[in-house]
Amino acid sequence: PKTREFNFTLKRTNLNPDGYSRVVWAVNGQYPGPIVRCNKGDTLKINVNNEFDDPTGIHMHGIFMNQTTWFDGVPGLTQCPQSTGSSFSYIFKVEQYGTYWYHSHFVAQYVDGLRGPIVVHDPEDPYKDSSDCEYVMTVSDWYHEPTGNFMPTFRSVNYRGNDPVPDSGEISGVGRYDCSKVTDGTPCEDKGYATYVVKKGKRYRFRIINTSAMAHFIISIDNHPMSVVEIDGINVKNHTLEYLPINIAQRYSVIIHCDKDVDNFWIRAIMSRCSIPYRPGDPRTINSNSSLNYEVFGILRYEGAPKTNPNSTSFDIPNSNTSDCYDVDLNNLKPYPADPPPENADHTLNFTVNVVLLPTSRMLAAIINGQSFSPDFDNPTVMRLKNGEDPSRFQPSDNAYAYDIPSNSVVDVVMINRENRTHPFHMHGHAFWVLCQGDPGTNSSDPSTLTLNTVDPPRRDVVTLKPLSTTIIRYVTDNPGVWAYHCHIEWHVEMGMVVQLIESPDILTKQQLPNMPSSLTDLCKQYDNSTD
Ligand code: C2O
Ligand code: CU
Repeated sequence: PKTREFNFTLKRTNLNPDGYSRVVWAVNGQYPGPIVRCNKGDTLKINVNNEFDDPTGIHMHGIFMNQTTWFDGVPGLTQCPQSTGSSFSYIFKVEQYGTYWYHSHFVAQYVDGLRGPIVVHDPEDPYKDSSDCEYVMTVSDWYHEPTGNFMPTFRSVNYRGNDPVPDSGEISGVGRYDCSKVTDGTPCEDKGYATYVVKKGKRYRFRIINTSAMAHFIISIDNHPMSVVEIDGINVKNHTLEYLPINIAQRYSVIIHCDKDVDNFWIRAIMSRCSIPYRPGDPRTINSNSSLNYEVFGILRYEGAPKTNPNSTSFDIPNSNTSDCYDVDLNNLKPYPADPPPENADHTLNFTVNVVLLPTSRMLAAIINGQSFSPDFDNPTVMRLKNGEDPSRFQPSDNAYAYDIPSNSVVDVVMINRENRTHPFHMHGHAFWVLCQGDPGTNSSDPSTLTLNTVDPPRRDVVTLKPLSTTIIRYVTDNPGVWAYHCHIEWHVEMGMVVQLIESPDILTKQQLPNMPSSLTDLCKQYDNSTD
């Protein structure tokens, strides 16, 4: 094991991922940010120089941050925001393997560009010899306006509209906006397609990461079925699919065999219709005839093939698959090697998720168990705990849970989705077993009537709640810390669809927080001075 250091200089940079030029919150001048690669067991040191004009905080999505909850990168929970002009290092050990990503966890900043892949190799990966080469492929929706331009309207008292609608989409940072639609003189050019060159006869592992703000995608590669081997950092028994549904923040490794005639093949990333609200008359929104606006293409090119566009045809993807935003069926994702959950739970957390008009402010807000969350940047939870505050005395609006559950307990989380749309929920610090993903309508029944798979359920860190349904996940409180648990649709985070799981606060305050590096306290001092 090694310590590997990465330097991130954050700076606003003019870029045009989909052809349309805009200012992007870039890492080292790039979008997406550079790939962070390491081996299982390594220590990562990510040095962040913040040259943005606004604060930041970077979360390593899916990395457990065992013993280092203060490096989880969530302003308001695990740190103060990192001020403009300052440097900060995230230092943590990686005991997992697989596909992850990093992204800003400060307001909606990741949507403006601050995001990139993390790949952790494992010399003992059982699938190591199942592929010859690998590629990382990110897919995302893309906005032309910086989020700061529309967030004030979106979060204003009188706003009754939809979530902000993306202008286009991209694969590995390359999209194709139709420049003929640009009327205000903004520079726009044809960037071509994200192209992956492969050798005939070889097997390629694609690590696919959905880094969107709000879009669920269906991914396919013409003529090349994909064999899923990893979901969110957990290996699964290989399962072959022609098209892969992937929700926000989820990751899949798939292996394809390049055994076709030397040629070009389309890679297709279809933004599912359910993710984009339809607004009559707004050409950016999807209705049943305009879904092609949101099909993003890339190219799989065999070495020796002409540099032309493919004329391959798509697998037959049922319409229902591109309109729903579901996950791959649980029954097809069996952990490998087997990894059954503890048989019974010691505790249950119940969360009811909804979007309502708040009675006092008359503002549209997301609520969990009736409470909407907004982080207190000046006074993050780790500091409150370090200062001796008792989490059982936190305010209801702190959305604090789990602090009364002993460590190493088995916890079932019952998620009741009262909304007629999907929400991809992510838990920090853990991978959970998905025991039951109820069908639409199942939230009306008693959760105890649902059938749970406790034998061989998949384990992951983002699960999609279907519309008006109940989903049950199980996790073990084996990681003392302050962990966000939230919908990963960024607009819903901004609306407050977040709780904090304060795990084993006594271990945290007695054994861990006393070792918290002083750089964390410095962040708060700097932030305090900058906001005076
Ligand atoms: Cu990628 Cu709090 O998440
Ligand atoms: Cu949501």
